[in-house]
Amino acid sequence: MQTLQTTSLRVVENQLFILDQQALPQEKSWLDASSVEALVGHIHALRVRGAPLIGLSASLLLALLAERGKSRDELAVALETLRASRPTAVNLMNNLDRMKQALWQDDFVPALVTEALRLIEEDKQLCDAIAKAGSALVKPGSRLLTHCNTGGLATAGVGTALGVIAHAHQQGLVSNVWVDETRPLLQGGRLTAWELGELGVPYQLIVDSMAASLMAKGEVDAVWVGADRIAANGDVANKIGTYSLAVLAKFHGIPFYVAAPRTTLDPDCPNGDAIPIEQRAAHEVTGVAGSFGAVQWAPDNARVYNPAFDVTPAALIEGWVLDTGVVTPEAVRNGFFRSSAA
Ligand code: MRU
Repeated sequence: MQTLQTTSLRVVENQLFILDQQALPQEKSWLDASSVEALVGHIHALRVRGAPLIGLSASLLLALLAERGKSRDELAVALETLRASRPTAVNLMNNLDRMKQALWQDDFVPALVTEALRLIEEDKQLCDAIAKAGSALVKPGSRLLTHCNTGGLATAGVGTALGVIAHAHQQGLVSNVWVDETRPLLQGGRLTAWELGELGVPYQLIVDSMAASLMAKGEVDAVWVGADRIAANGDVANKIGTYSLAVLAKFHGIPFYVAAPRTTLDPDCPNGDAIPIEQRAAHEVTGVAGSFGAVQWAPDNARVYNPAFDVTPAALIEGWVLDTGVVTPEAVRNGFFRSSAA
């Protein structure tokens, strides 16, 4: 395969590398992800993360394994192992469904390589289209609030919600971005803050529980988040904490927007109750770990509940910003997502 580079994926001499998102922003280190075991380990540990990026990394690895001479049967096993690596973000399943179709072509090696590269290129275009469609909703002087990380780190392109914010900033529309730190794994504090800094977008980092009082003071004009899965009725699974922001936004009369590419749609999933929610390890809540070391503040035997995502009901969402444009609540009620194919 040709040499390839995105913000967090790299292919060099038929090896796949990922930018270690657990080490950022203190360290910028690239880790080998050239075997199924290695990549699944990185996905579990969120060293490679973000709904679109997980699917793209798995697709690239399959293509590289095919070029290395793995048989169709071996690749089919690898594909299912990768599919099971994280349950909530449907981009992984949607990307791998496309790779599976390529796997069953007669000439499956070039078919897999072509499909993986196509998925990468498409994701860039999807991000650009989302950024353009979304920034049309941003009013001059906006103070926007965002959660988790939805930027170039999480995609092959400019990002989803963060792509909208960056594009709106380029147009001079953004006066400040409130960045939720996003406990427990701090994707906001570590990754979004870093990305906005690199882009020169003005931001202030806040702890997650500050959003309510900022909204009450009239300091937030709109909330922009990404999505890990959008069900047929418009319910959205996204990083834990998203639902509480949506409730707060509704209470304060602030528009709440979800930005996502078509690869995040799951028309076969009737509603949010049917979205599988990943449960994660206790140590993510009892303390924190990073390139700075590890600390634990909770008692050793503390019982922990740690779902990685929550579901925001469609009724709280003002607009779903896709690569195809803005989907309104009315269109969603009329079945827009039931008929959309990823
Ligand atoms: O657990 P993560 O970090 O992989 O979570 C996924 C996310 O980054 C968000 O939920 C995001 O809004 C969707 S990805 C653009």
